[in-house]
This record gives sequence, structure tokens and C-alpha cells, in this order.
Amino acid sequence: MSEDLWSLHAPIDAELAAAQTVTSSVTLIIPTFNESGNIDELLRRLGDALPEHLPCQVLFVDDSTDDTPAVIEKAAVEYPFPVAVLHRESAVGGLGGAVLEGVRRADTDWIVVMDADLQHPPHLVPELVGEGMRTGADLVVASRYISGGSRAGLAGSYRIAVSRGATWLTKGLFPRALRGISDPMSGFFAMRRSVVTAEALKPQGYKILLELAVRCRPAKVAEVPFVFQDRFSGESKSTAREGMRFLAHLASLRSATPLARMVGFGLIGLSGFVPNLAALWLLTHAGMHYLPAEIVANQAGVLWNFVLIEVLLFRDRRHRHWADRVGRFALLANADLLLRIPLIAVFVAKLGMSVLPATALALVTTFVLRYAATEALVYLPRTSRKAGRHTRS
Ligand code: GDD
Ligand code: MN
Repeated sequence: MSEDLWSLHAPIDAELAAAQTVTSSVTLIIPTFNESGNIDELLRRLGDALPEHLPCQVLFVDDSTDDTPAVIEKAAVEYPFPVAVLHRESAVGGLGGAVLEGVRRADTDWIVVMDADLQHPPHLVPELVGEGMRTGADLVVASRYISGGSRAGLAGSYRIAVSRGATWLTKGLFPRALRGISDPMSGFFAMRRSVVTAEALKPQGYKILLELAVRCRPAKVAEVPFVFQDRFSGESKSTAREGMRFLAHLASLRSATPLARMVGFGLIGLSGFVPNLAALWLLTHAGMHYLPAEIVANQAGVLWNFVLIEVLLFRDRRHRHWADRVGRFALLANADLLLRIPLIAVFVAKLGMSVLPATALALVTTFVLRYAATEALVYLPRTSRKAGRHTRS
């Protein structure tokens, strides 16, 4: 596949063709979504920036609905380095999915990822790779947050605040994996291809650097400062929906281990008290007797928990039909309530415990049981259906 891609735009000049037999050491992966106005300027600046001693091939991974691929193909022939465009029929995984697609096709020593809109200065491409080679780092991040860098092109105080908040949240959630990375939100970085385990990646949207840093754990990290520029042409493709996707991405990265997932399950369960109590208040105020109201209100908590667990914890394991999952989940949640009372009775009568510790122990026991049952009975293991897809690609 990759050979076909490159031969598309192989230079016809004999000298250049000979030069092409030297394996390129860098694949520059550029995700594009309707960026036709940026392509010529981007390639021109890359042409000025790429030194001869650094063989580089440019791979656009495109999900555009405009004429971006055609613009790339037309411009490509003018440059001495290979330029290819891979257009995807469906934009699986968004920006991050596009980058992963590019990584899969890269067989060079290094990959560099950058945006197409010239917010990432092209002249830094050789510097990122050079820094990696000099320091032996596996990952070199272009950072706005170290001395010499800045976020000049980040439009407006709202976006600056969001970006800062997201950075703190992310660093707080992954202190170890992100040690040495001041700008985990950056979309501009170089990474050794050998460190990237493409099979382990499940990108969701924009934050592909975060995905790579957390799942591939590069041993050594370096940073190079950069000034985030203004967009050259067009508009940002980032939306509020992309923000939600980022939160879901954080949750799925953070809950990758069973213990972390269980903690998440517990926290979501606790948060379920809020809708439960709110519904109880509403129903009793509407005149319902408190006992049936308890039962109905409990369902509000169950539904709340279900939605959060679906989106945040078991996103990639939703293989059963949704109605089947709701039914099973609700059954387990209510069985939990029914089981707790006799369990407390047993703890008190048979083990001689007093009521409070017996209740606490019963809560913990039914929680662990419910977690195990949810994992086993509501959600199928991730490997069951997706494994086939992974091994084939
Ligand atoms: N293939 C593909 N598919 N490319 C996409 C998609 C998609 O679904 N969405 C966006 N892109 C491309 C854009 O065409 C552009 O080249 C690049 O990804 C970045 O998109 P922008 O829309 O310009 O993002 P931004 O400027 O808001 O955000 C950038 O800067 C942030 C730092 O503030 C990105 O680099 C973020 O990752 C980064 O966090
Ligand atoms: Mn941009």
C-alpha cells in the first residue's frame, strides 16, 4: 500500500528518482480536513525548510469534503521530496484516527505530526528530529509552554483558558506518563517509529500526542519551544463536540487498567445519588408515597450510572444491543439492592457484627459483585469482536 502511495508522485527526474531509493528517514504526517487554501503555502515553506541530508516524505491523511486531495496532488509534483495523499472514505477516529492511519503506513525511522494550517512552523520539522537524534529521545514535543514558546495564535481568552485548563487536568490525571511534557495538547511532535505500537492505539479525535504518550510510554522525552501561529487560511475544525470527545478520551485512557476501571465505576455509582435523590424529592412532592417513589427514583440513579458507564468506561465494549445492555444493567443494579438487606442480616446475626460496619461491608461486597457482573454480563471483552479487525490490518 505504501509503495503505491509514493509512486503516485514519484519525481520523473532521473537524479531525483535515484535519490528516492535512499530510504527516507522521516514521514511527515499531516491530517487534513478541508484545508485546500493552506496546501500550497505549506508545501512551499516545507520545501524551504527541509534540508537535503534529512530525507523526508510527506503523507497527507485526508478526510476532506472539499477539493483538498486534488490540490495536494496538483502541487505535489513541484517538490523534490515525495508527497502523497491518502483520502479516507470514512473519518474513523477523526484527527487522531487519521494520524494513526499515517503511522501504520510509515516505515521510516521517524514520524513527525503537524497541522496543515501553518499554526505549526514548518521550519521546526528538522529541529524536532535533530533534537531527538542529539539527545536520544524517543519523542520530541514542540511546546508552547517552555521558555521561547508561546500560544500567540490561540484565538481569544476563552480558548486560552480552555487550553490551559485541559492541560492541567490532563497533567493531573497522568503525572507519570506526561513527565517532561509541558504541552500534552500539542499537535506538533516527532516520534521514533519503533516506539509506536500502532496496535495499542485507540485515538479519539484531536489529542493524538496524549494517546501516544500514555499508551506507548516513550522512555525519553525532549521538548523544543514553538510559537503557535495564526491560522493561514480557513477555520479551526475544533467544536464543542470535540471537547466532549476529549473528555471521553481522557476517561478511556485513565480507565485502561481493571483497578482504575473499578474506581471509576465506584465514583460514577456515588454520583448516581444526585439524580436518585432529586427524583425522590420530585416524586414525593408530586404526592407519590415514599416507598414506590424510592423504587422509581432508584431507576433514575441507575439510568444516570448506565449512561456514564457506557460513555466513560466501556465505550469500546458495547457489543450487545443497547436495549439488552440497559436491561441487564438495570437488573443487576436492582438485584444489588435486594441482595444487600439479607446480606446485612447475615453479617449481623451470624457474624455478630454491629449494624454500621455490617452495612458498610455489605455495600462493598455488593459493589464488587456488581462490578464483576457488569463487566462479565453487560459488556463483552474488547478482544472478542475487534481482535479480528486488528490482526487483519
Ligand atoms: N484527516 C483529518 N480528519 N484531519 C482533521 C480532522 C479530521 O477529522 N479534524 C481536523 N483535522 C486537521 C485539520 O485540517 C488541521 O490540519 C489539523 O487537523 C488541526 O485542526 P484545527 O481545526 O486547525 O485544530 P486547532 O487549531 O483547533 O487545534 C490544534 O491546536 C491545538 C492546540 O491548541 C490541534 O493541533 C490540536 O491537536 C491542538 O491541541
Ligand atoms: Mn489549527
